[in-house]
Amino acid sequence: MSKHVILITGTPCVGKTSVARLLTSKLKAFYVNLTDLATNEHLILGKDKERDSIIVDEKRIRRRIQELIMQCDRDVIIDGHYAVGVVPKQLVTYVFVLRCDPVELRNFMEKCGFYGHKLWENLASEILDVCLVDALNVNGEGRICEIDRTRKSTEEVAKEILGILNDKEKCRVGVVDWLNKLENEGLLEEYLRI
Ligand SMILES: Nc1ncnc2c1ncn2[C@@H]1O[C@H](COP(=O)(O)OP(=O)(O)OP(=O)(O)O)[C@@H](O)[C@H]1O
Ligand SMILES: [Mg+2]
Repeated sequence: MSKHVILITGTPCVGKTSVARLLTSKLKAFYVNLTDLATNEHLILGKDKERDSIIVDEKRIRRRIQELIMQCDRDVIIDGHYAVGVVPKQLVTYVFVLRCDPVELRNFMEKCGFYGHKLWENLASEILDVCLVDALNVNGEGRICEIDRTRKSTEEVAKEILGILNDKEKCRVGVVDWLNKLENEGLLEEYLRI
């Protein structure tokens, strides 16, 4: 079997790192956390003070990731919400977009320390499918699998992904519709503030 290059993407705090690390140990894969790679190897252009985040040097990180994938003789798991923008698409086997009901995700975000504008901005990204749309724009359907991780443990999510990798479960998009769900629950105005 040839090696897989698997991207784990999704809105901040959705559980990417927890799932990616567990998957890495199950597959004995090579793990790349994009934020850590950019920070440790100084692949950054500067700091976005307003967003309290780093501005990644996309050109250099793209080159570095290509190098890491080429050198690696194992499956590679790449964890980061902008993974589709920096991993050369011809090298990608699967993109897993983790999704989470905004009501649950809000709790995760609060645990991560988000509040105020940043919390509502990130929740709006989840409600409006930003990571999924980004993935579809770059990779096209077929290799993009949406995983609804709502009320699931990290173990359950990793198992679902392994099921897809082993051709036992289907890779699908269009599995959630948060706009509709929040609307039906009368929560849309509270959750979509931006
Ligand atoms: N299955 C779960 N049940 C409860 N809490 C969880 C679960 N998975 C993750 N969390 C919590 O949610 C938060 C975010 O998890 P994690 O760091 O894996 O997300 P992330 O998508 O990698 O975040 P970031 O975008 O900041 O890198 C953590 O506080 C974690 O403990
Ligand atoms: Mg993370």
